[in-house]
Amino acid sequence: MTKPTMEEIVSLSKRRGFVFQSSEIYGGLAGFYDYGPLGVELVNNLKSLWWQACVRDNDNIFGVDGSIIQNPLLWQASGHIAGFSDPMVEDTVTHKRYRADQLAGVDTNDLKELAELLRDKKSPEGNKLGEPRQFNMMMQTWVGPVEDDAAKVYLRPETAGSIFTNFLNVKDTMRAKLPFGIAQIGKAFRNEISPRDFIFRVRELEQMEMQYFISASDQDEAYERWRDFAWRFLTERCGIKEDSLSWHEHGPNERAHYAKAAHDIYFDYPQGPKELWGTHNRTDFDLLNHARVSGKDLSYIDESSGERFTPNVIESSVGVGRLLLAVLTEAYDRDTIDKEERVVLRLKPSLAPYKVAVSPLLKNKPELVSFAREVYADLKKEFGMVMWDDNGNIGKRYRRQDEIGTPYCITIDFESLENKSVTIRDRDSTKQSRFQLDKLVETLRPKFLQ
Ligand code: GAP
Repeated sequence: MTKPTMEEIVSLSKRRGFVFQSSEIYGGLAGFYDYGPLGVELVNNLKSLWWQACVRDNDNIFGVDGSIIQNPLLWQASGHIAGFSDPMVEDTVTHKRYRADQLAGVDTNDLKELAELLRDKKSPEGNKLGEPRQFNMMMQTWVGPVEDDAAKVYLRPETAGSIFTNFLNVKDTMRAKLPFGIAQIGKAFRNEISPRDFIFRVRELEQMEMQYFISASDQDEAYERWRDFAWRFLTERCGIKEDSLSWHEHGPNERAHYAKAAHDIYFDYPQGPKELWGTHNRTDFDLLNHARVSGKDLSYIDESSGERFTPNVIESSVGVGRLLLAVLTEAYDRDTIDKEERVVLRLKPSLAPYKVAVSPLLKNKPELVSFAREVYADLKKEFGMVMWDDNGNIGKRYRRQDEIGTPYCITIDFESLENKSVTIRDRDSTKQSRFQLDKLVETLRPKFLQ
């Protein structure tokens, strides 16, 4: 199967209600997107799979849901106000701004190296470039009625902030002992210099992050454990083939200001292999700095040895939008059925926005329609996301469902009226099989766990 182009993914997303441009009727806003009816189902399925695997499947990982705007001292302590920047370069004629590392085609934040690499390069408009400099990506706003420096706050650039500030609260309320983790799903904001590649690089993003608090001696083992978690989540739970994934270890000039080591999983997106999921060794950087700036004691006492120390942190972090784009890219396929080309989303049934579509063979036969309506109502009670589809001929209905990844289509025909049986048509093989109505739910239920 050939990889889909970004145009194909964007077109399907818009055509079938996965992703829309934000505020589209006003011309949109660069770096902002909305999820449509199918997109929000896929997003929710991805988030609940991650929550299950990360929080509910582990006794020692606890969830939080922190606020987006917090005391700005948090971002001073975390180093984001001083150091959360990307290298930027300006076209000296149009004054358009670009990511210097992207124009140079390298993964580095080092301004000297970038200046050297860009010395003889022109901007995409063909003009001379200025000197590269750092651009801080924190988004600002003000709380309260006065817009002065005292009221200035930031929209969080990563969800990790409120995990660190809740370290003591979670440790004390849950009587948590090291090693333990705190997980969160939530929005984050970055004033990206060049948002691009559809929902890959946006200014309003959602992250699924987990900070795992450990003693220094457990760093290496925990780092490997959470790298393995990310890889297995993508391959086993999201149905992404190993061939579409690769590891990328951050070089010293590429790592975030808080990280001692970082490994990204790259996914082979339509625009090429790019970062999907990061595992970082943040050492004791965050808790030490929050303790210093807040004046609170964020150390931990080991019960057996009596030793007091500041925990180290291994972080696992993935963007929901990037995961959705990876899952759509991986699932997108075209094949030919009965000499007709079709687009089919081969999503895992557990991820599919709609689980089943129910159709009467003919919509102008009341006896077929009323039987089909009964089947539809029963399945909807059981599986929730069930679609009624009686529009167009049966072939067209199947194609429509294939394109949105619905794994099973159930048709009620004249034989159904005689012996209370229905046909189930499988999205991937397109094979149809006949089942007794009273066996339908138990036949389908295990399939949606896959
Ligand atoms: N707390 C660590 C952290 O935020 P990061 O590598 O900057 O690390 C983590 O971001 C993940 O968030 C990335 O691997 C990616 O999936 C997602 N992400 C980061 N910036 C993004 C953006 N501008 N648009 C979409 N997703 C983004």
